[in-house]
Amino acid sequence: MDPGILIAVLLGILAVAIVSTMWTAARGAPWAPSPWAVVRKMLRMAGTQPGEVVFDLGSGDGRVLVVAARRFRARAIGIEIDPLRYLWTQLFISVLGVRAQVRVIRGDLFAQDLCQADVVTVYLRQDTNRRLITKLRGELRPGARVVSYSFTFDGWTPIAVDERSQIFVYRAGEGWHEGATGA
Ligand SMILES: C[S@@+](CC[C@H](N)C(=O)[O-])C[C@H]1O[C@@H](n2cnc3c(N)ncnc32)[C@H](O)[C@@H]1O
Repeated sequence: MDPGILIAVLLGILAVAIVSTMWTAARGAPWAPSPWAVVRKMLRMAGTQPGEVVFDLGSGDGRVLVVAARRFRARAIGIEIDPLRYLWTQLFISVLGVRAQVRVIRGDLFAQDLCQADVVTVYLRQDTNRRLITKLRGELRPGARVVSYSFTFDGWTPIAVDERSQIFVYRAGEGWHEGATGA
């Protein structure tokens, strides 16, 4: 291939990656994958059971969805705002043969109803978690679990913490203090 074309293609890919990172960061969090071991631990700490519904809010490359389906036999729904990662996830779940258990929605996590969730996983940001609290309080069924990697939910007492891996597990209706809203 002509070196000029190769450089142009590489610069194009770089530009798309930079724009995508800035755009998703402004909407909730830039993409950074949770380590696979952390994904397994998050779902284990949440007590994920076969047949339960796991939502990953900002599902990135779809790894949480795939582990939830394959290892925990759960049904997994991802919400991802970035079209490229959404397309990647469609490909990923097809190749791995988990289409029957996994769905990915291209859209804004703040616009999706979470009332079907048994487990919600997030790896976002502290301020995004703060904005999410009102939504979680309004939509989650009592007993649903929320697992957050790296960031806590202000004013909500976790039921389990792994300090070393920075995983925080919460239960809907338990330990959330009045006044802890995203307002
Ligand atoms: C830090 S990554 C986490 C990816 C994945 N959950 C994981 O743990 O590997 C955050 C993801 O959230 C997505 N995101 C950010 N804001 C969003 C929004 N408002 N709605 C849906 N997805 C969003 C980003 O595009 C990115 O893929």
